[in-house]
Amino acid sequence: MMEWTDRHCRFFHRLLTRRALLYTEMLTTGAVLHGDRARFLRYDAAEHPLALQLGGSDPRALAACAKIGADLGFDEINLNAGCPSDRVQDGRFGACLMAEPQLVGDCVAAMKAAVAIPVTVKCRIGIDEQDAESALEIFAQSIESARAGALIVHARKAWLKGLSPKENREVPPLDHDRVYRLKAAHPRLNVVLNGGIAGVEDALLHLDRVDGVMMGRAAYQEPWRLIAVDPLIFGDAAAFASPQQAAAALVPYIERELVEGTRLHAITRHLHGLFRAVPGARAYRRRLADAATSPHADAQLLAAALAMVSDAVLDRDRVLAHIAA
Ligand SMILES: Cc1cc2nc3c(=O)[nH]c(=O)nc-3n(C[C@H](O)[C@H](O)[C@H](O)COP(=O)(O)O)c2cc1C
Repeated sequence: MMEWTDRHCRFFHRLLTRRALLYTEMLTTGAVLHGDRARFLRYDAAEHPLALQLGGSDPRALAACAKIGADLGFDEINLNAGCPSDRVQDGRFGACLMAEPQLVGDCVAAMKAAVAIPVTVKCRIGIDEQDAESALEIFAQSIESARAGALIVHARKAWLKGLSPKENREVPPLDHDRVYRLKAAHPRLNVVLNGGIAGVEDALLHLDRVDGVMMGRAAYQEPWRLIAVDPLIFGDAAAFASPQQAAAALVPYIERELVEGTRLHAITRHLHGLFRAVPGARAYRRRLADAATSPHADAQLLAAALAMVSDAVLDRDRVLAHIAA
């Protein structure tokens, strides 16, 4: 998610779940081919498994970027056909590609020819006046023929004119049933459901009907939820018994990054929702916000903020133990 799932966010999320597949922010082919590649594509080895999401519509450019990503060790290349922002439409990629299923198929085929790792696509159920039944079906046929590793479907339409990107994530109604029907019609296509999944328990319910689920805003805004991914989805032990322990485990990473010149806030901004709705959460967030204004803040500030929710952690422990049981 643009501006959200940067490398610091992903490093932290990886502490919370060892198993979930993480995604980069969308990177355009132009940025990968002509931009500050080392910065844009930087990630820590601990972030695996990690998918690189690309934005573009030129098969050759996408193939070149996919190869760059694969050579750098990314585990999957994902093509964005779901983002509705104006900038993206000008570049003829993102959600407007839903109107060009054949081109998207060609893009997938070109990328697949360039790499050995899975190539996947993320889309909507349709755009504008498209009929979500036939448009998604035709799109999925093209993706399946190109042998994409998965189709991730954000289960609402995007309206390219008239709605802001934010509204396009909220206003068009969710239609999870449409994605279930897609899976039923395409048993050999890996179909991943996205959109409105509030938590891991919610995700579990969908897994009866689709091959996978993708959590966006809930994962970012309430990252503590991710601790339940390993026990509930994968049957593994939770990486940490509490969000507080996970945050404390981030300290060596923070210290390493500060030495490189990273500002504390660039990392801790991703931790604001870690204790949502538990006692002390507000004080914790207020304390953490200080990192934004004090350029020399260090890991001590995080430790001080964490101390404000120490009582709540006991509750959270109990909740997680209960979930895992
Ligand atoms: C701030 C923000 C940035 C996003 N950036 C991307 C992006 O770069 N690529 C993408 O495929 N989706 C992006 N999305 C959409 C999410 O991946 C997801 O499809 C959408 O929020 C619906 O899922 P959710 O209800 O679980 O959040 C973004 C969403 C938000 C809130």
